[in-house]
Amino acid sequence: MAMQIQTGTSELKDVTKMERIGAHSHIRGLGLDDRLEPRQNSQGLVGQAKARKAAGMILKMVQEGKIAGRAMLFAGPPSTGKTAIAMGMAQSLGQDVPFTMIAASEVFSLSMSKTEALTQAFRRSIGVRIKEETELIEGQVVEIQIDRSLTGATKTGKLTIKTTDMETVYDLGTKMIESLTKEKVLAGDVIAIDKTSGKVTKLGRSVAMSRDYDAMGADTKFVQCPEGEIQKRKEVIHTVSLHEIDVINSRTQGFLALFAGDTGEIKPELRAQINTKVADWREEGKAEVVPGVLFIDEVHMLDIECFSFLNRALESELSPLVVMASNRGMARIRGTKYKSPHGLPVDLLDRVLIVSTKPYEEEDIQQIIQIRCQEEDVSLTPDALTVLTSMSKQTTLRYALNLISCGRVLARKRKSENVDVEDLRRAYTYFMDEKRSVQWLKEQQGTLVFEEVGVEGRKDEVMDTD
Ligand SMILES: Nc1ncnc2c1ncn2[C@@H]1O[C@H](COP(=O)(O)OP(=O)(O)OP(=O)(O)O)[C@@H](O)[C@H]1O
Ligand SMILES: [Mg+2]
Repeated sequence: MAMQIQTGTSELKDVTKMERIGAHSHIRGLGLDDRLEPRQNSQGLVGQAKARKAAGMILKMVQEGKIAGRAMLFAGPPSTGKTAIAMGMAQSLGQDVPFTMIAASEVFSLSMSKTEALTQAFRRSIGVRIKEETELIEGQVVEIQIDRSLTGATKTGKLTIKTTDMETVYDLGTKMIESLTKEKVLAGDVIAIDKTSGKVTKLGRSVAMSRDYDAMGADTKFVQCPEGEIQKRKEVIHTVSLHEIDVINSRTQGFLALFAGDTGEIKPELRAQINTKVADWREEGKAEVVPGVLFIDEVHMLDIECFSFLNRALESELSPLVVMASNRGMARIRGTKYKSPHGLPVDLLDRVLIVSTKPYEEEDIQQIIQIRCQEEDVSLTPDALTVLTSMSKQTTLRYALNLISCGRVLARKRKSENVDVEDLRRAYTYFMDEKRSVQWLKEQQGTLVFEEVGVEGRKDEVMDTD
């Protein structure tokens, strides 16, 4: 059955990436120079030079669009910037290169199977750049004539349009009259009408009309009357992801599902049809596949079935670059009894480029704190900065970053705009970091509920319920 595959309309373009605020909002890119060398402190990222350079190299490969089925893994202790660098990668991708970010635990959902969730994530990360020829009517308006029916409910009319070489009269329907009125098109305007969608664009006012300049606003743009034919063919390019094509064409959903986010499972036959169609388009030169990036954070939370799916999916021709992050050392692979580095099976690790991230030096920490202060619009006194930096060494970077906004609240209470050492000290006493929390729990022996778990040495078994 030959099926008409739709690729969406301009409406899809309105689903733009959301601007993120929060833990990583200070990150604007990878901060690399033209030779892919990392600058010490640029675009919100500090230090961690090797990992940033590796990320940059991989991105370069993606941007050249030639690779499929590569995977990389950021491995390192907590708060060493794994997620941060992935966010930097997302920011440095081109406008129409898709980037999808999921946390591995999102795959476990009741509404769809694990493999369906992963498949959707994969297909979200692959763009299809589609070239379409549309027919345009382009020219200078000579006259618009509108006739109303007696009741005024329906309108008909005629539009006379010309180029330097020819002049044509078109019949107008109600809808077209509305569009022309909405755009406030007058005789003497140069306009373009997209024949398929009926969209009217005002290109400017004909220079021949510039004599009546006085009658117009200062922002009027003057353009030449177009030459040649009135009807022209023009090429337009739009990019949609494979997942969007899937959803638009899945009969039960329709493209509104894209806005609702509730896409449900999609039939494998439909995907097969779409893949074939996209392959045809590629052959005809109508479409180009743009492999994007799929970032799976906390990847050790996937289980053995997901890992074997990944192995296979990475080998498909329509595969994005898969970037993963894990802070585990030797850990149990979910769904098995075996331990493996980073909680990933060795056959998957074998397919992956591994990049390690390392704990930060004092200097880097200080700069990260400064960047976050700017981002959160908080000013620290120089002493407070030194204290916070050393706190971060003793606790964790995240804890220190969290104290910034707490410090501000305390500083405001004493009517100061600057966070000082004393505010940080107080915040430190109010909020425990992880080490003190463990210490406190030890002191509370027995008073909290459900304290006793498993046998020592089998902790990792207990965390997993499958
Ligand atoms: N090199 C860096 N430059 C600027 N900010 C950074 C850098 N590294 C980390 N940060 C910031 O520090 C915080 C913790 O880093 P991040 O969340 O990336 O750690 P992670 O390695 O993903 O840790 P986890 O394993 O716990 O997920 C974030 O707010 C992040 O934006
Ligand atoms: Mg992280």
